[in-house]
Amino acid sequence: MVDIEQVKQWAVSRWTLGEMHGVSHWERVERNGLLLVTPECDVTVIRLFAYLHDSCRENDMCDIHHGPRAAKMIVGLRTSLLKDLTDHQFKLLQEACRLHTSTHRTGNPTIDACFDADRLDLGRVNFIPDPEKMATEKGKEMARLL
Ligand SMILES: [Fe+2]
Ligand SMILES: [Fe+2]
Repeated sequence: MVDIEQVKQWAVSRWTLGEMHGVSHWERVERNGLLLVTPECDVTVIRLFAYLHDSCRENDMCDIHHGPRAAKMIVGLRTSLLKDLTDHQFKLLQEACRLHTSTHRTGNPTIDACFDADRLDLGRVNFIPDPEKMATEKGKEMARLL
């Protein structure tokens, strides 16, 4: 079983930017993700996404390539921190990281839950997510409550 706490500590240990995209954001993304889970979702992938998706940001501004960078970076964790993922889980995690900076919705329940978990935390940068722009039904419901 993948040790999420260990992945979190690893991500925290190499993080050099501030809190805007840092650990408090990652924790909220994990919490949102847990609220968005449906029976079709892979909860391990969603929790890992929370701690890895922004980990390759080079600045807090418009760094649109940090998603694809994270997808590449996690290849280096495949035989260590992420060794217990199945190939399918690893692929989902990679796709969620790679696409979160560019894609609205994929149709895959796990990846879409990752996107919405991240979007639901836009309030931290004074941006209220538009329910119509969420990728999942649960995400839409939760955005309406914000
Ligand atoms: Fe991001
Ligand atoms: Fe994020």
